[in-house]
Amino acid sequence: MKPGSRDERDAREEEGPVPELFTWEFATDPYPAYAWLREHAPVRWTELPSGVGAWLVTRYGEAREALAEGRLSKNPVHHAEDSRARGKTGIPGERGADLMTHLLNIDPPDHTRLRRLVSKAFTPRRVAEFEPRVRELTDRFIDGFAARGQADLIHEFAFPLPIYAICDLLGVPAEDQDDFRDWAGMMIRHGGGPRGGVARSVKRIRAYLVELIDRKRAGLGGSPGGGPGEDLISGLIRASDHGEQLTANEAAAMAFILLFAGFETTVNLIGNGVHTLLGHPAERRRLQESLARGESALLESAVEELLRYDGPVELATWRYATAPLTIGGRAIAAGDPVLVVLAAADRDPARFGGPDTLDLARRDNPHLGYGHGIHYCLGAPLARLEARTALAALLTRLPDLRLGAAPGELRWRGGLIMRGLRSLPVEFTAET
Ligand code: HEM
Repeated sequence: MKPGSRDERDAREEEGPVPELFTWEFATDPYPAYAWLREHAPVRWTELPSGVGAWLVTRYGEAREALAEGRLSKNPVHHAEDSRARGKTGIPGERGADLMTHLLNIDPPDHTRLRRLVSKAFTPRRVAEFEPRVRELTDRFIDGFAARGQADLIHEFAFPLPIYAICDLLGVPAEDQDDFRDWAGMMIRHGGGPRGGVARSVKRIRAYLVELIDRKRAGLGGSPGGGPGEDLISGLIRASDHGEQLTANEAAAMAFILLFAGFETTVNLIGNGVHTLLGHPAERRRLQESLARGESALLESAVEELLRYDGPVELATWRYATAPLTIGGRAIAAGDPVLVVLAAADRDPARFGGPDTLDLARRDNPHLGYGHGIHYCLGAPLARLEARTALAALLTRLPDLRLGAAPGELRWRGGLIMRGLRSLPVEFTAET
């Protein structure tokens, strides 16, 4: 029997009833199923709803190893199944394909070169300088519903905040930002799948970004009316003009991934985070008291703990074995897809004390919510800034914030990679 073959996998498949994955109950609370997998089948070949199979890795140690494993490629050309199956993994065909040659779909040496370039432009300093703007946006969106005494925190707050923030940071002109909100809304509603309206959105976004980059490049070249911009796209162009090259396609793909990797993730960090806090009144009070004293330490550890406890990225993005390898004693064949289940790893009792307990002051918290290794989240400083600002503003301005629906009435999106609520109705004493 060929090591790693489906026959061998089946022969070695775990005993006992396997919890059903990808059901409505699972989307609402996947953690019991993940606990079972961690204990009984920590590296498990699983058929996904799309019909494509993949290895799910659920223990912390193996998850961290897999994220840093050089033989696991991010490039979908290494997927053994046919191109039809590849299409089902959510990688669009010709029209949007060149936008898809971004950091999350490429390996070294291209990845190394592009990541170095973008790191020169997307610096922690640039993010820190952006703080007043994030505060302003946060307050503007809260102003929109504060007098009403109730709101849908996903649609009115968590959704617009990151999209306008990243548009500003990238240098998308204010008059075009509403278009991005609409395109992003389309992609979120349809789970980023490649067909229909989403493909049209991707095409429009591509055309828009290519033109924007051209305009900025011309401006940087000293053409009349154009000065060197302070925004991230201009920074990227400037960085690429000093030695290492960035092709027009690569620049558009980079702008695309910055817009979209940082969008649905941050929506869900804020949404899941507020949802978790509302369900843990003692921890939430502790955070409110700390904010009232003007402290920031608990807010910082709280954002990390909320990411660990119920983070937005349930599974890290796809990886494909380029050579046979072993993970957690299971033989993975070349061409097999591997999905690292961050949400399961971050509740592994072998790594976290009391993993199912929310402890906003948790100190030893090396969670995998932002990934690990060379693809570690590039936008983590921005995500942290947005989450801290959003939570602090909500809990300070709307101190008696409470859920506006019975917990059982909340609906989760049930996508494969992301975990997030469709809406989050809340109530509070209206601001006068
Ligand atoms: C990569 C999570 C926000 C840009 C990743 C990865 C994770 C992640 C888990 C690694 C995926 C993998 O290895 O398969 C998150 C979470 C966020 C967040 C939880 C918010 C709460 C952002 C923001 C931006 C961003 C705001 C940009 C503005 C990126 C990029 C990558 C990435 C460009 C690819 C890096 C590479 O391949 O080198 N993120 N992210 N993310 N993230 Fe984030």
